[in-house]
Amino acid sequence: MESRIKSFSEYESHYGSSMQEQESYWGKIAEEFVWKKKWDKVHSGNFNDLNIKWFEGGKLNITENCLDRHLEKRGDKIAVNYEGNQPDSLKHSMTYRELHAEVCKFSNVLTDLGVKKGDRVCFYMAMVPELLVGVLATARIGAIHSVVFGGFSSQALAGRIQDSTCKILVTNDGTFRGGKHIALKGIADEALKNCPSIEKSIVVKRSFQPVEMKEGRDIWWHDQIRDASPKFDAVEMDAEDPLFILYTSGSTGQPKGLVHTCGGYMVYASQTFKNVFQVEQDDTYWCTADIGWITGHTYITYGPLLNGVSTLMFEGVPTYPDAGRFWELIEKYGVTHLYTAPTAIRALMAKGTDLVNKRNLSSLKVLGSVGEPINEEAWEWYNKNIGKENCPIVDTWWQTETGGIMITPLAGITKTKPTFATLPFPGVEPVLMDENGKEYQGNGVSGNLCLKRSWPGIARTIYGDHERYKQTYFSTYPGYYFTGDGCLRDEDGYYRITGRVDDVMNVSGHRIGTAEVEDAINMHDNVVESAIVGYPHEIKGQGIYAYIICQETPKDEALFKKEVLGKVIEVIGPIAKPDKMQVVSGLPKTRSGKIMRRILRKIAEGDTSNLGDTSTLLNPAIVDELKDGAI
Ligand code: PRX
Repeated sequence: MESRIKSFSEYESHYGSSMQEQESYWGKIAEEFVWKKKWDKVHSGNFNDLNIKWFEGGKLNITENCLDRHLEKRGDKIAVNYEGNQPDSLKHSMTYRELHAEVCKFSNVLTDLGVKKGDRVCFYMAMVPELLVGVLATARIGAIHSVVFGGFSSQALAGRIQDSTCKILVTNDGTFRGGKHIALKGIADEALKNCPSIEKSIVVKRSFQPVEMKEGRDIWWHDQIRDASPKFDAVEMDAEDPLFILYTSGSTGQPKGLVHTCGGYMVYASQTFKNVFQVEQDDTYWCTADIGWITGHTYITYGPLLNGVSTLMFEGVPTYPDAGRFWELIEKYGVTHLYTAPTAIRALMAKGTDLVNKRNLSSLKVLGSVGEPINEEAWEWYNKNIGKENCPIVDTWWQTETGGIMITPLAGITKTKPTFATLPFPGVEPVLMDENGKEYQGNGVSGNLCLKRSWPGIARTIYGDHERYKQTYFSTYPGYYFTGDGCLRDEDGYYRITGRVDDVMNVSGHRIGTAEVEDAINMHDNVVESAIVGYPHEIKGQGIYAYIICQETPKDEALFKKEVLGKVIEVIGPIAKPDKMQVVSGLPKTRSGKIMRRILRKIAEGDTSNLGDTSTLLNPAIVDELKDGAI
């Protein structure tokens, strides 16, 4: 059996054998990689013992599979094309051989700084090629990377560095996002005031704005790398050793550091990339995500490089200098595969088709969607105007925790249906749960989406807190992994993700916990309590609605709201700013003190016709006040 699936009947036979002979199925796929020592056992552990292992006893280094093994056949092939924020300002490309050399150099730099296997290296960076190099070098020396999205605040960065006690921080002087300059180094310096574990901060020049360099701690990337050797023998890693930590929001508490491992993640990232996108050797693939999110880890960094593909990496935003930037880049680089988020599609859709039609998009073969449900209108627009009804759309459902794509069409192979992620990838066993915690049988049902068996890419734990891992994902339905998503399985057995069923919002494809935003708002001196809910937003998918109870009625409400926004920016970052804020005298609560979020959601949605039974509330009168003051 070939690992590349070429037809629907091959998909069916892959799927069948992944279910019936799980171990031999994944064992055969894993044989394609370079292992320093073959594994002893393909898979062990389950969703009860939560001691999940894949390719146990196997020894490898993922970067040998991403880089070294391509050198002979594809050394001179472009690995990455790079485009900076300003058109034509930073155009740059790297072949596999050049990328390999850069990664080896930075591996030597990190090693000389005393970074060892198992140490944590944090990246707080712009989308620049050095980020890719740095992440791969970290993996090459056996250390663990933790990339923090460059839009998070200094407090959020500090929290993540502290949680995994990172030894090194790699950052930029600054970055440009659209018309804005973001002073990354300044934000990082603020964070480092509270991060005693950081020994060195390595700064990559990008915006060329002046920065302060702290003696003994801050060093320049270009000084370090100048004389470093371009050779570095990759460190031997156990398949189950951690490869990276990536923080994501949940419905409660602080963000969780999900831990992904070297062997299983590699096999799953590669296998999903190969089959979902069906990229050919001469293609140019472009994923518009940021490496600070899981999509950028698996489908900018590891998946494409494991498959020896040429990719495009882009620093900027879709709307700068105008809303034609994506289409310009597709034409300029001959992009064949575009993988982006519904929020970007909706934002560009709102700008009409003039800018689209100015460009030749005939290189495109496959379109992808990720991060949030794609509404039918956006799907149709993408299909008609970008794909010219000639490019399959792969609507890929997955999560930070799953490591790779889970429910998805295979491009050109699976018949697509607007708004449906369609069918499970081989190895994935989705089930839908009813209100009694039992699996729905048959088709034409809706329920909570769970996964019934493990797959190689599953996150193994939450860094430093295995108990929280168990509680968060495996306690709602014992023996199952609970995704937090609602889902419909239609009469054809196709899956459509309907959105989160927990207190997690999805704002412009960014996952944000309501509790995190509430905690930030509550830090304002004049706030007693707040409640956050998501509401449908035309461009962002979901917007953030805040109900806020004040200690004293603010004299200047506009000023108060500005201060609240400032708090959220300070504690989390601009991505978590509420779109609407309503100052209220109370919140609808049950007699046991629980906030009735259902009512708050309805009011935020502007749908107050049927609020259900409110007579059991501790304070039923509050509902009218909320309705009257709704924004
Ligand atoms: O609610 C689902 C939504 O994004 C959540 C995962 O967010 P995150 O861990 O940040 O990873 C995003 C990128 C993989 C899911 O629980 N989601 C992701 N992809 C889709 C989606 N919802 C609907 N359709 C999708 N294709």
